[in-house]
Amino acid sequence: MAEKRVALVIGATGIVGGNMIRHLDSREDWQVIGLSRRQPYYESDATFISVDLSDPEECRSKLGELAHITHVFFAGYTDRPTWAEQDAPNLALLANPMDVIEPLSQNLQHVCLLQGTKAYGSQLGPFKSPAKESDPRHMPPNFYFSQQDYLIRASEGKSWSWSCVRPHAVCGYAVGIPMNLVSCIAVYATISKELGLPLRFPGSPITYSALYMATEAGLLSRAMEWAATTPACADQAFNVINGDYVRFENMWPKFAEFFDMETGPLQRIDLPLMMADKAPLWDEIVKKHDLVPNAYEDMAHWPFAQYIFNNEWDMMSDMTKCRTFGFLDFIDTEQMFLDQFAELRANRVIP
Ligand SMILES: NC(=O)c1ccc[n+]([C@@H]2O[C@H](COP(=O)([O-])OP(=O)(O)OC[C@H]3O[C@@H](n4cnc5c(N)ncnc54)[C@H](OP(=O)(O)O)[C@@H]3O)[C@@H](O)[C@H]2O)c1
Repeated sequence: MAEKRVALVIGATGIVGGNMIRHLDSREDWQVIGLSRRQPYYESDATFISVDLSDPEECRSKLGELAHITHVFFAGYTDRPTWAEQDAPNLALLANPMDVIEPLSQNLQHVCLLQGTKAYGSQLGPFKSPAKESDPRHMPPNFYFSQQDYLIRASEGKSWSWSCVRPHAVCGYAVGIPMNLVSCIAVYATISKELGLPLRFPGSPITYSALYMATEAGLLSRAMEWAATTPACADQAFNVINGDYVRFENMWPKFAEFFDMETGPLQRIDLPLMMADKAPLWDEIVKKHDLVPNAYEDMAHWPFAQYIFNNEWDMMSDMTKCRTFGFLDFIDTEQMFLDQFAELRANRVIP
């Protein structure tokens, strides 16, 4: 039997990393090691090392035995108030562990780096659509650029290669990760229903009708494995989205139907402000419907939802490069939302 590949998944408790580890668990040819500070919230065959990756000394002492890594999947992320402030701390999350394991791991073959549509400046305002991997960078700083440039430099003259994958709005199973559009919409709908309100889109009318896209976490995991193990993907970046483009105005009535609610007219509200006092109501809903007791603040991150519902420009990445290189998976985004709401209901997270 061929020797197993050994994956180091950085960001094991994140929405991307957690789903990646569970994907590799389901594959026979991978041994998996996960890194994060917290313990994972899911069952897994992987080995987990709790480490603060922002601390180079801790990386040296806790990762100094990892000489057998063949593939690194980097899905670490640390938030900061401004885009510029995110640069150095996020570069450190990649560089600190890489500086330890790269010289040790003689059989390192590939490092797959998570980026996103923010590589095109989707967070700055309108950007070229559809966005292509060959588009010029926006004005830095951008921690994705710093991380990619680090890998380009570190891999020079070495036998390993790198790739970047660029998803948008990753949607998938995760616990305790409130920056998740599916659970934000589900909690907003549940609370609206409890208050006898229709399901109103709470953001900008322009966003309601703008083009949007998403990436299902399972599809992203398959794309990451593909990019990391397909020789033609070496040293390349790839957009990875479900493959279709949607508008909230078309999906919203279907969401209302799922939650057995009327669709209300739009009403723009300040979500962080208006949802701040709803934790006691959420706790009552949990009790009334005998739900799994998830804390309100673990279910929805309102500034994140506010950001998504008020981006007044099209979000559109081109999937041609991914398809040309051979990754052909696709997912119906509207159905993905409905399936994931149903999964939350089946797991008694929402009524
Ligand atoms: N989620 C999306 O919709 C989306 C969309 C496009 C692109 N992306 C990109 O995908 C990447 C991963 O994002 P994500 O959403 O999966 O992030 P996430 O859910 O916030 O997870 C971040 C991970 O990083 C770990 N981490 C943070 N600081 C750490 C530290 N000091 N030491 C060790 N581990 C640390 C966290 O673990 P602990 O807290 O347990 O330490 C967690 O496992 C990011 O580059 C993000 O920009 C995400």
